Amino acid sequence: MTTAVGVIWGRLWGVRIGFATRMATMWIGPCGRGCTVYPTARIYGGRRVRFGDRVTINDYVHIWGVGGVSIGDDTMIAAHSVIVSQTHELDALRQGRKYRETLTFAPVKIGNNVWIGSSVTILPGVTIGDGAVIGAGAVVTRDIPPAALAIGVPARVIRLLGEQNAFEHAGIAASAKTSAQDA
Ligand SMILES: CC(C)(COP(=O)(O)OP(=O)(O)OC[C@H]1O[C@@H](n2cnc3c(N)ncnc32)[C@H](O)[C@@H]1OP(=O)(O)O)[C@@H](O)C(=O)NCCC(=O)NCCS
Repeated sequence: MTTAVGVIWGRLWGVRIGFATRMATMWIGPCGRGCTVYPTARIYGGRRVRFGDRVTINDYVHIWGVGGVSIGDDTMIAAHSVIVSQTHELDALRQGRKYRETLTFAPVKIGNNVWIGSSVTILPGVTIGDGAVIGAGAVVTRDIPPAALAIGVPARVIRLLGEQNAFEHAGIAASAKTSAQDA
């Protein structure tokens, strides 16, 4: 009985209730073909997590999916990375509330053929464009354009990785292109 309750709660809320929830947190929404999720990865709020085809989620990745997380075809998430689609309001104190009472959500969208290095943190509301690479240890606080290499805390674009005219096609702003090429 406890196990059944745990599975139900785990599916609804990602609540940790021992082994049952360990199973439940692996449950996800639409998932393409040929995806690999390594055994120690954790996916919470999985009903709002969508994988394309051939997505790889390595060990110890945590996905907090209640706010919505979509990951495109052929994208790889290296070990120990964290994708977060929920946060708390900073003006909670002024409102006389506790942070735990102010859970808010913003979807994370990661495109096709993206490589997320080890120990990257991706914050709520971020979109990462097709073909982008995020260096190990980065904290991604803002959108990353397609075909861009971004590193650091906070993550900044340091290089563009595709053909020159591909950036115009991808809609990258001239200022972003220039600063990346100057870097
Ligand atoms: C971002 C990355 C792809 C860059 O590779 P690269 O272009 O060959 O980079 P280089 O090794 O030539 O380093 C270029 C500069 O960036 C710095 N740098 C490289 N990776 C960095 C990172 N993740 N964060 C911060 N700085 C980084 C280097 O120190 C170097 O700085 P310097 O010029 O002042 O010496 C790579 O370093 C990386 O992070 N790979 C992820 C590996 C990983 O997580 N694998 C998981 C299993 S697939």
